[in-house]
Amino acid sequence: MVLSKKMEKALNDQINAEMYSSYLYLSMASDLNSKALDGFSNWMKTQAQEELYHAMKLYDFVLERGGSVTLDAIEAPQTEWENPLAIFQGAYKHELLVTRLINNLVDLAIKEKDHATNNFLQWYVKEQVEEEASADEIVQKLKLIGNQGNGIFMLDKEMGARIPLFTFPTDE
Ligand code: FEO
Repeated sequence: MVLSKKMEKALNDQINAEMYSSYLYLSMASDLNSKALDGFSNWMKTQAQEELYHAMKLYDFVLERGGSVTLDAIEAPQTEWENPLAIFQGAYKHELLVTRLINNLVDLAIKEKDHATNNFLQWYVKEQVEEEASADEIVQKLKLIGNQGNGIFMLDKEMGARIPLFTFPTDE
């Protein structure tokens, strides 16, 4: 069964949303770096890579199902935030939005009786549970730490240990 035009368009929109997520997190990573929080920045850069992976998984699925990918312009993300807490609250809020988008896609797949797409999307449904939890966990830790420099320093060190899916040329 080939993708319907409506489903194809919705999946294309989701590719754009995942690319935007990657842009947003790269922008957050840059701001964290300029705040001298290299570990937080590393975590966010790794998150940006994951978003790219989310987009590519959709990209491959659309092509596999006989559809085409039409790439749209990616919105420019915010560039500065007040503090790390505002950044991670922003990331958490963004993940809630992405979950809503994924749920809408599932609703459409069910409505169209497109079982293959529904089955494919379940990976994202599961992934969103983790995505929300990991951003929220950092929000909660930052709230607990407050303005204590030592706590921020320790958390920054911990977050610097997150391993990227692949290395950037500048990391080598
Ligand atoms: Fe692609 Fe963070 O959801």
